[in-house]
Amino acid sequence: MTYPGGKGRAYQRLINLMPPHDVFIETHLGGGAVMLKKRRAARNIGIDADDRVIARWRERGDPMIELVLGDAASYLVEHPPGPAAMVFCDPPYWPESRRRARCYRCDYTAADHARLLAVLVELRCKVIITGYPSPAYDAALPGWHAVDYVNCTQMGAVTERAWTNFAPPTVLHDYDHLGIDFREREALRRRRTSHVRKLQRAPALERNAILADLVDAFPDELKQAVGRRAP
Ligand SMILES: C[S@@+](CC[C@H](N)C(=O)[O-])C[C@H]1O[C@@H](n2cnc3c(N)ncnc32)[C@H](O)[C@@H]1O
Repeated sequence: MTYPGGKGRAYQRLINLMPPHDVFIETHLGGGAVMLKKRRAARNIGIDADDRVIARWRERGDPMIELVLGDAASYLVEHPPGPAAMVFCDPPYWPESRRRARCYRCDYTAADHARLLAVLVELRCKVIITGYPSPAYDAALPGWHAVDYVNCTQMGAVTERAWTNFAPPTVLHDYDHLGIDFREREALRRRRTSHVRKLQRAPALERNAILADLVDAFPDELKQAVGRRAP
């Protein structure tokens, strides 16, 4: 499933913005590139207003993903997510910034964008929303952080923006996509594997001494790392 503006080429950048969370809510699911690529949370909820989108996800029959057919903003108002949740919103593009008049069966007017943003600023959980860089979004999301990234779409490479209601995290939910591009991701993967192999090969007492030193040096980080085990 690919969608206009789908995140099939940009999901790594978005996953690398996500701090640890128990519940993941992708509010405008479409092809759900982020939902499919990221490490699952304890609960994973995908919402879309298009019944054909939801029907295709139902055909996949993934028992880990709860599907909701409905309007994203209404769902968030009716089911306010708790503080440990992460809401990821990739709504249809802002009407004026789109080159084609209509991309989706369920489209979004400027008023729909405004309503969604008004709901998002009231949430108590972590939120990421993506779109084209937009003064209207900047104005509606005061104090939010903005990160630009390049997404390869049917219209070529475009700069998109992710607004987050939290500072860039130092601890992530999923480290598997870390790195700015393929080369950096591979280099990082090799370094991580090599560190672990060295520890595996070390005599047990040396390994345990190093692990104890790490606990002393990074107590909070290690607690987070132990807590992130796959559900
Ligand atoms: C930009 S696409 C999402 C693309 C997705 N991130 C991907 O990787 O494929 C926007 C999606 O929002 C859905 N949508 C439109 N209006 C909606 C609404 N009010 N509530 C929830 N979803 C809606 C559309 O059906 C479409 O699937």
